[in-house]
Amino acid sequence: MSPSRIAIAAFVAAAGSAYAAEDTKLVLENKIAQCQGCHGIPDWKTAFPEVYRVPKLGGQKADYIVSALKAYKSGERDFPTMRAIAAPLTDDEMQKLANYYASAAALSAQAEKK
Ligand code: HEC
Repeated sequence: MSPSRIAIAAFVAAAGSAYAAEDTKLVLENKIAQCQGCHGIPDWKTAFPEVYRVPKLGGQKADYIVSALKAYKSGERDFPTMRAIAAPLTDDEMQKLANYYASAAALSAQAEKK
């Protein structure tokens, strides 16, 4: 390969991985927006299937969040809404969502909404 071809190949590889990282971030942000729809509202209660308080996620331990999501996915923990939400999540997505909610960013995002 000539030096310019190598430079182009390196550029394409770098640009490709940057796009991939952006995609993952976007997917995660969309998921978090979905979770926030229920979990981000202080003292929010669902009306279906019965009046139920939505637990706060911000500040919970990442391990706890991952195991709760896995339990919903497997049906071990039975709550239809959360089961439907957890079912399509991969282990990696669960871990990333859990990391987000266990981090300070989630707590301050919740604090701002008060
Ligand atoms: C339609 C509303 C709704 C959406 C959207 C939603 N949740 Fe939930 N979630 C609930 C409710 C209600 C519960 C309590 C269910 C129960 O008691 O088992 C819950 C429980 C949980 C729990 C267990 C918390 C605990 O304290 O035991 C976790 C973890 C969780 N959700 C994560 C998520 C994540 C991550 C998302 C986004 C991918 C999400 N939820 C989206 C309504 C929702």
